[in-house]
This record gives sequence, C-alpha cells and structure tokens, in this order.
Amino acid sequence: MSLCQRWRLRAPFLFLALPLWAAAQVPVPAPVEEVPFITTPDHVTVAMLELAGVGAQDHVIDLGSGDGRIVITAARRFGATGLGVEIVPDLVAQSRDNARRAGVTARTRFEVQDLFTTDLTPASVVTMYLLPEVNLALRPRLLALQPGTRIVSHDWDLGDWRPDRTLTLAVPEKAVGREKLSRLHLWTVPAVVQGLWCGPGGAKLQVQQQYQVVSAVQTQGGLARSYSGRVHGRTLELLGEAGRRWQATVADDTLQEAGAGAPAWRRAGASSLAGPGEGAATAACS
Ligand SMILES: C[S@@+](CC[C@H](N)C(=O)[O-])C[C@H]1O[C@@H](n2cnc3c(N)ncnc32)[C@H](O)[C@@H]1O
Repeated sequence: MSLCQRWRLRAPFLFLALPLWAAAQVPVPAPVEEVPFITTPDHVTVAMLELAGVGAQDHVIDLGSGDGRIVITAARRFGATGLGVEIVPDLVAQSRDNARRAGVTARTRFEVQDLFTTDLTPASVVTMYLLPEVNLALRPRLLALQPGTRIVSHDWDLGDWRPDRTLTLAVPEKAVGREKLSRLHLWTVPAVVQGLWCGPGGAKLQVQQQYQVVSAVQTQGGLARSYSGRVHGRTLELLGEAGRRWQATVADDTLQEAGAGAPAWRRAGASSLAGPGEGAATAACS
C-alpha cells in the first residue's frame, strides 16, 4: 500500500475525530502525500553521494525520487547508473525530461512505483529523503541487502541501527524545519556474523551482533579472550585486550582471517540479524 493510500485511509478517521459542530464548518482535509515532495538542495545531493562514495561502478536507487535530481546527479557527476522510484506520475515524467536534458537517459531509469514494493537488491547505494516511520518500515529490507550496500538518508535515521557516519550541513534555503540544517546519515549493510564460528585446532569464536556492532569471545584449550568490534560490509574487525587486533573477511559461511596463510573459520549454525543472541544457542563445532 502506498503512503498516499495509507493517508487516504486515515483521513476519514481524522474527520470523525473532530467535534460535530466543527466538522460542519471545516472542509474535509484533502488527501496529501504523507511524504511530501520537498527537494534535496543541490549541494546536499552532492554531499549525500560523496558520503556514500558513489562511483562509476555503483547502481543508485533513490526511494521517492521526486524530480530525479539524486539519480541524475549520481549519473552525471559520478558516472553511476541509477533508478528513481516515485509515486507521483508527473514527477516521474519530469525526471525523465530532466535526465534527457542532462544527457543521462542511458544510465538512468525512472518508474512510477511504490517504494514499499520496489526490488532493492540491484542497488549498491540506496538514497532516501523520507520520514522516520517510513525509514523504520524499510529497515528490515535494507538490512537484508548484500553486505557492503551503502544507505544514505537525508535528515532521518533508522532508529537503533545507528549510522556509521553523520554529516551536518548548513542549508539556509531549507523549506522545512527551523534549524536550516540538513543531517546526512550513512550506513553500510553489515554481513551476518552472529553465532558460533569454528576455527583450527578446536578454536571457537562466539559472536554477538547488534547491526554492525559486535562482541566476541574466542576460546581454545581452556583459554578465553574477549573482543569488541564492528562489521563493515564483509570485514569483521575485533579489538581485544592489550590492543590485540583480529580481522577477517566474511564470505557466506566462512570467516577468512587476514594475513598470508591465515586459517578460515566456518560457521557452526544458522544466524540472523533479527535479534542479538539468536542462532547461537543450538550451534556447536564438531
Ligand atoms: C521529500 S521528497 C524527496 C525527493 C527526492 N528524493 C529528493 O531528495 O529531492 C519524497 C518523495 O517521495 C515520494 N513518495 C511518497 N510516498 C511514496 C511511495 N509510497 N512510493 C514512492 N514515492 C513516494 C513523494 O511523492 C516525494 O516526491
């Protein structure tokens, strides 16, 4: 269901909530977009794409693409390909026209589409200028994207999935808010490392994961070492006592330790990002 439709469903209830005398005098509120069309200013658009490190190898999907400016800038200035999905047909027509005038029709596509049903899997970068509740509704699908996919949101965050970076920019001409600032948030989708990993010589690594933040305990021969760290895309970086560092690359069910000839660890059980601790209880190293 589109945001527009959801608002239309709610509008009659708003009307019923009014006192009868007021309802007699106040016109029924016209359906409006729950996420209205407000453009990201040009310098903020460039900063969003720079924050995501967009380049020629990227495919950018802008959810709620308005007049197409983010996708067009990604193609024209950074050489990326892109898809803009937008619920308002006139804005899609305008975007196609803007793309033609910018000379990027071959690398851009604009579709009248509900962002809640858009296939996000081709994206290496997802951009959004939506609303907090919409971001939260999208979060499970964003988390399920390929590790390393970057997400940039203008102004609104993703709740307790904390951003990897936040930039604040002055926007004197900003049409909304009193601060005249834009906040840009960047996330990189983390690989799922939650659970038990089995290493050489009976070594075990038990990992607890909350989004990109992890803690881990490595055990071998009665010795236990605790670590804390992060997952950046497919890279797991752990820091232990006395500055001990441990780095590995995640590939499906293998954790390849960094360094020539370093061992690979294998995943002992099913894992999930849905909640901390899940997937760890039943797994064992044989
Ligand atoms: C704040 S504007 C952002 C426009 C553009 N991304 C930018 O940053 O300049 C949000 C856009 O989302 C669109 N939108 C709202 N609900 C949508 C939905 N369910 N699916 C696709 N687009 C939607 C609106 O029409 C609006 O153009």
